[in-house]
Amino acid sequence: MTRAQAGRWLILAAAGSGARSGEPLNKAFAPLGDSCAALLCLKAFAPFVDGAVVAIGSEDVPSWEAVERRAQVLTSVITVRGGLNRQASVSRALSHVPPDARLVAVHDAARPFVSAAVIERCFAQAERTGAAIPVVPVADTMLIVGESGSEEAPPRDLLRAVQTPQVFRRDWLARAYEDASDGAATDDATLVRAAGHAVSIVDGETRNRKLTTPEDFRIARMEIMLNERETQSAANQPRVGFGLDAHRLSPDRPLVLCGVTVPHTAGLLGHSDADVAVHALIDALLGAAALGDIGRWFPDSDAAYKGISSMLLLKRVVDGLAERGYRVGNADVTIVAQRPKLAGFIPAMRDSLAGVLGVDVGDVSVKATTTERMGYEGREEGVSAHAAAVLYRKQARSGGYSFDTIGP
Ligand code: CTP
Ligand code: MG
Repeated sequence: MTRAQAGRWLILAAAGSGARSGEPLNKAFAPLGDSCAALLCLKAFAPFVDGAVVAIGSEDVPSWEAVERRAQVLTSVITVRGGLNRQASVSRALSHVPPDARLVAVHDAARPFVSAAVIERCFAQAERTGAAIPVVPVADTMLIVGESGSEEAPPRDLLRAVQTPQVFRRDWLARAYEDASDGAATDDATLVRAAGHAVSIVDGETRNRKLTTPEDFRIARMEIMLNERETQSAANQPRVGFGLDAHRLSPDRPLVLCGVTVPHTAGLLGHSDADVAVHALIDALLGAAALGDIGRWFPDSDAAYKGISSMLLLKRVVDGLAERGYRVGNADVTIVAQRPKLAGFIPAMRDSLAGVLGVDVGDVSVKATTTERMGYEGREEGVSAHAAAVLYRKQARSGGYSFDTIGP
């Protein structure tokens, strides 16, 4: 995600009481999974803004303090006391927005499911036109019921439900609020339009609904539970990979296998230290993640890898996998060599691999075999290694990782 363009701020309106929600706490702070609406909003906006001014009610100070501790790491946060209605709360918050803010997004804390796409769309349009709000078509036919009992159904095609964030040039919004009477505008665009500015509309999302009723909270909690379950099951899907490598033996080289130097009359030839077992393991790991192979990650045309310890390459691969959301489950390596006898070195090899893979030694197996003098390993022309590895996803695909990028 790109870093916020400078001068963008958020006003989060969280100073209501949520009377219609039936929640024991103000709905902005009522539990949603292990979070709450106010915190979810701050998380959603953090990548897009320099900071946030949050309007809260006096009864919610303890709830807010718990949220603030978790929010400060996301973005800089200024807290203000709200007013009697939303308009008064936003007006107070506005007077605390730092002077270098160019664009201000006003968002209802009661809309915790706002997406990055909607936030970016509103900011981008407001950069162009000075004012932008997200809207969605309405599903139901609407009826205006007059005081005298008259009824009128406006054409549904023309109707839109207005959401937040509503993004404005700071000077337009400030002037609109200065000019506004003490009314109870339920959104900000109404005031900006009244001050004579056109307000652009962009596509909102039905998911970006305002949590209002007990029913809304029941559905929101169900949605969060299902998402967690999905994440959980995606995280538990094992992915298996296989790797194979072979190197030629040469009398003037050290023999390094699984990061352990094994005394012998010959060692393996290669661009790096030619640790054939680690190379097979790297290919197994990359194969499990479908991320190419060792040659694509560390081309032997690159002088940087000349003579390098293959254990360093393994570390880079494990780190690269972690960045993409994978952790190693277990690995199994078989080394095929006629000589020397490797049994005595296997405990050290398992320790060395486990350390870099970040797993218990019980999750790493190293085995050795001869080919009873058959083939190139049997004739001691070379050594080969086979490896299998299992990866687990630390988080679901939706974590924003790109899974098709090849390379470190
Ligand atoms: N809001 C605010 N200050 C107020 C009233 C409302 O900051 N004095 C905020 C709410 O916290 C909410 C948003 O404005 O995030 C939208 O208002 P609404 O959905 O009406 O929330 P509440 O007023 O809290 O709920 P209710 O009307 O059910 O009491
Ligand atoms: Mg209200």
